[in-house]
Amino acid sequence: MTNVTRDFFIGLSNSKFLNAQAKKWGFVLGADKFVAGTTIQSVVDAVKEQNAKGISCTLDNLGEFVSDKGEANQAKEQILAILDTINKQNLDCHLSVKLTQLGLDIDQDYCIANMKDILDTAKQYSIFVNIDMEDYSHYEATLDVLNELREHYDNVGTVIQSYLYRAEEDLSRLKDMRIRLVKGAYKESEEVAFSDKQDIDRNFIKLAKQRLLGNTFTSIATHDHHIINELKAFVDENAIGTDKFEFQMLYGFRNDMQDKLAENGYNFCTYIPFGDDWFGYFMRRLAERPQNMNLIMKDALYT
Ligand code: FDA
Repeated sequence: MTNVTRDFFIGLSNSKFLNAQAKKWGFVLGADKFVAGTTIQSVVDAVKEQNAKGISCTLDNLGEFVSDKGEANQAKEQILAILDTINKQNLDCHLSVKLTQLGLDIDQDYCIANMKDILDTAKQYSIFVNIDMEDYSHYEATLDVLNELREHYDNVGTVIQSYLYRAEEDLSRLKDMRIRLVKGAYKESEEVAFSDKQDIDRNFIKLAKQRLLGNTFTSIATHDHHIINELKAFVDENAIGTDKFEFQMLYGFRNDMQDKLAENGYNFCTYIPFGDDWFGYFMRRLAERPQNMNLIMKDALYT
């Protein structure tokens, strides 16, 4: 993919105007392939379908870069309702949250207070909450919030992006915490992040191996079969128990591979986004893989 194409979709993902407009459009452009629905009930069906195949899930109530307390409070209430639903329906499912949805850009203490409300309820139900990692301008603040939360809670974790030069250093500080390892989805400056795909992939493999040799659970989140195959071989060679890690992929991506990994005895978790704030998430997926656009165009032509 050219950098121009990638930058184009990342640019769209950041447009406040388009993100706001898209909430009114409903799902268009084939977004329903990658977003499970708008309501809690629609997403429960998707979780149950995965659970029936032995696949666990993590739910993401879509939304980010919120600048209004009313909206952040609403997001928190929705997340609390999801936790109740997971508990009542006994779903094999945890939660993924974005701190900018919960007020990080408004006031850090307010965001921490929202997270504490969420983590208190989640802890009561023994549900794990993962903090997604957003763009680098929110990185330090996210780690600050996490450090405050981890003093009080053991049901919280976060994401480390292998495109960041500092990923290894941060991972070593977080070696006792459950972590999701990803490549990184935002456009970052060369001052802080690798831009070359080979460097990002090499770092991902290096960090994943370090984590697998450690003692704490790791979610290896990638659709890249080259990396997955290399790590499967590494796990075999080093007799690493399958209870120490899981593979994660996004809802709607490589479904056959998701099912196969679960059938072959690997822990597998599907990241399921839902809600009407789908535009930014969807544009980042197109930035990663414009072929997703081809799939959508084919559908549009043949249905
Ligand atoms: P990448 O896009 O690098 O593709 C590598 C190769 O894999 C391709 O060349 C192709 O061969 C194959 N491939 C990939 N997708 C395919 C497909 N659909 N069909 C066929 N072949 C395919 N990012 C972030 O910054 N913060 C976060 O919190 C998260 N959270 C997160 C959770 C989960 C569960 C996932 C899977 C990803 C994220 N990400 C993320 C996104 C992540 O950083 C990254 O942008 C994407 O996963 C894309 O990178 P990949 O490693 O998946 O493959």
